[in-house]
Amino acid sequence: MEFDKGYYKGKTAVVTGAASGIGLALIEELLAYGADKVVLADFNAENLKKHTDRLSAEYPGKVKGILCDVTKENEVADMIAEAAEFLGGRIDLLINNAGAGLMGRFAESYSPVPKEDPLGLNVQTNKDWEKAFALNFYGALYGCREVIPIMQKNGGGQVINVISGIAFYPMAYQTMYAATKSALNGLTLSLRYEYWDDNIKFNSATPGTTATAIWGDKAPPPTAQTPQQSARRILAQAAKNRRIIFGDDPDEAGAKNCFHPDHEDIPDTYLLEVARARRSGESTRV
Ligand SMILES: NC(=O)c1ccc[n+]([C@@H]2O[C@H](COP(=O)([O-])OP(=O)(O)OC[C@H]3O[C@@H](n4cnc5c(N)ncnc54)[C@H](O)[C@@H]3O)[C@@H](O)[C@H]2O)c1
Repeated sequence: MEFDKGYYKGKTAVVTGAASGIGLALIEELLAYGADKVVLADFNAENLKKHTDRLSAEYPGKVKGILCDVTKENEVADMIAEAAEFLGGRIDLLINNAGAGLMGRFAESYSPVPKEDPLGLNVQTNKDWEKAFALNFYGALYGCREVIPIMQKNGGGQVINVISGIAFYPMAYQTMYAATKSALNGLTLSLRYEYWDDNIKFNSATPGTTATAIWGDKAPPPTAQTPQQSARRILAQAAKNRRIIFGDDPDEAGAKNCFHPDHEDIPDTYLLEVARARRSGESTRV
């Protein structure tokens, strides 16, 4: 995808969930495009150190890793403050990317429906729902709230919140993922207009189906792209300030069909097929 990489030249950026997968690829692309300085924020200390050390050797003085659990508001506040100090008081770009996929069953099954399903998924409790929102929704919300005053002070900035295609194609056995990412999309698109006149750009970004650690011990779907492909596509569209950024073509098509009143049959047919495939054991069917 053609775009002006110079858009990122000299910019400062913070990426959460940056010690793996798409977050790490976003950092690597930003550095390759000539970003001034970047901060990797993650709660995985081992991966954070490994990648911060590696990238610091390649880009001396330009990279900092900050340990941060985004589900804890005080840690996000401390991380943003520390990042702003490293970045010379300026955060041009914040990418709230930390998140997880969260498969599970919604409720206990009523006998005679078999209690065990071949996916071996647990029934998700209120505690699970709270944890899901803490990571996929509140983590990003805290980041937005901390960075807005800094961006306002500096005359503007940009926030990309990483959602998922599931916000538009809500799949069975991923109710928590669909709900948290839809909520994050709503938050992001509201903020886009609340802060437009402050010159702070807000974008929702779906990464597309991407081969990362999010798939756990299961093989990602054969159609999955690389984290670098996802990061490039996100950054290309962010440079154009697209309202919703689509990380791959199926995500874009899914979003178009999802809300089209004349084509309900498309998502109904497809999503029912996914539900049935998953129920019969194809857990990574998308
Ligand atoms: N890979 C895909 O196919 C796909 C598709 C749609 C959306 N996404 C979204 O993309 C984002 C990145 O996922 P990924 O695929 O690169 O997965 P990943 O597992 O490779 O990376 C996620 C990173 O987030 C970090 N993290 C998790 N919880 C955290 C916390 N509480 N605080 C700080 N860091 C935390 C992890 O340590 C990890 O480094 C997520 O928001 C995910 O929902 C991914």
